[in-house]
Amino acid sequence: MASIEFNLGSIEEGQSVTILWRGLPVFVRHRTQAEIDEAKAVPLSDLKDPATDESRTKEGHEQWLIMIANCTHLGCIPTGEAGEFDGWACPCHGSQFDTAGRIRKGPAPTNLVVPPYEFISDTLVQIG
Ligand code: FES
Repeated sequence: MASIEFNLGSIEEGQSVTILWRGLPVFVRHRTQAEIDEAKAVPLSDLKDPATDESRTKEGHEQWLIMIANCTHLGCIPTGEAGEFDGWACPCHGSQFDTAGRIRKGPAPTNLVVPPYEFISDTLVQIG
């Protein structure tokens, strides 16, 4: 399994980058406090694929959201900072994801996938 190390140091709050891991595009988003608060405020009963915000981030690093970018419907790449839920909107069939990458509307059956990763330091993450 190929893993990569990625330095988060240059990604400012409110910015996202897309990197490649094992040939897959991966979103790395530095969330704002408002985005984190919004994600934490959603009742699990509102979610098609229930998952807490905490389960999708690492403790102490909640500002970082790291997810495989492919829509869980048919694999298109959603657009960031878009949609009714301030997260991502898929241009192919209209799925919308919230600020934790959870499916909120549209045909995607599950949340955007969080790959295995760990923090090596506050700014260095190993994916895979
Ligand atoms: Fe994203 Fe269909 S591929 S909604």
